[in-house]
Amino acid sequence: MSTTAQVAGPSGTAPAARLLGWDCLELWVGNARTSAGFLMSAFGFRCTAYAGPETGVRDKASYVLEQGEVRLVVSAALDPASPIAEHVRRHGDGVHDLAWLVDDARGAFEAAVGRVARPVREPWTEGDDGGELVLAQIGTYGETVHTFVDRTRYEGRRLEPGYEADRLPPTPVGPEVGLRAIDHVVGNVEQGRLEDWVGFYAEVLGFEPMLHFSEDQISTEYSALASTVVWDGKQIVMPLNEPATGRRKSQIAEYLDAYGGPGVQHIALRTDDIVASVDALVARGVRFMEVPASYYEEAEERLAGVALAWDDLRRLGILVDRDSEGHLLQIFTETVTDRPAVFFEIIERRGARGFGEGNFKALFEAIERDQARRGNL
Ligand code: FE2
Repeated sequence: MSTTAQVAGPSGTAPAARLLGWDCLELWVGNARTSAGFLMSAFGFRCTAYAGPETGVRDKASYVLEQGEVRLVVSAALDPASPIAEHVRRHGDGVHDLAWLVDDARGAFEAAVGRVARPVREPWTEGDDGGELVLAQIGTYGETVHTFVDRTRYEGRRLEPGYEADRLPPTPVGPEVGLRAIDHVVGNVEQGRLEDWVGFYAEVLGFEPMLHFSEDQISTEYSALASTVVWDGKQIVMPLNEPATGRRKSQIAEYLDAYGGPGVQHIALRTDDIVASVDALVARGVRFMEVPASYYEEAEERLAGVALAWDDLRRLGILVDRDSEGHLLQIFTETVTDRPAVFFEIIERRGARGFGEGNFKALFEAIERDQARRGNL
């Protein structure tokens, strides 16, 4: 695997955008105050900034939430004509923007659009006494967008002009959760379009395929999907899933129906101590997918020779997988949206670079039990 982030484009085009990392993930929701409150109380985020009528922003309310290097922005419309209101009407609460930090937003936008990305918003600037921020937006799957954010000439940790750090919601009391960084962000795309979207990330952004799982590898008795992981060679890792035809409705098909099209399925957040993190999250009221007891008999065989706190893993329902480079521990929350759409993954990597392929079957069987309870299997 190459670590080149900047690659030569199709002849005559500029090199792909140089991405420096995640800037933030923005969720568009019906009520930002309560969604932010939930992410603070249940997931241990701190609110670090707010924008709304009190700060001179008339059409939306936004809360910036931070933990480790993770930055989420939760926004809601204050006006029925707002695109946020329309997005929520169509999709329910969801992830609208996967924003990347760049050192040249105009160049990134021009390179991407020159390589057939869909322009959403031409480069624009926002300024205040902290300097000037340059931003630009392209579209990806569904109504999801990528914003290129250039902070080179903008001081401080403030998200952007209009955000203030006065009178923020207080941090709820609770055990330290210890989420450190965004590990990966997964998108669900239309059946038959996976290859197109892999091609989009390769061609438009110079991403490389890291792993592919065919529907034969990721299937249960009832449902199937195919998945390809693309990445920028450094830290932006984006698995993409498409549904495959199974005996019943695949979990990806259920998502596409519920969300009203393609979109972000889950956000994986990395911890250095998954047992401590999950203990804290459970204490704070987060509910996780249930894992059948039989999973651990099979897992102990699969992980033979690896010293693991099996009692803790069993007690908390943490899944474990290995690859040639090490092992990883992971767990998935229930969907955090009313529609069965978006959920979080908590992951601890001990060398392994995979995504829990060995867990897919056990995981999907657990998902299908939930789907059956909703009458969608
Ligand atoms: Fe994942």
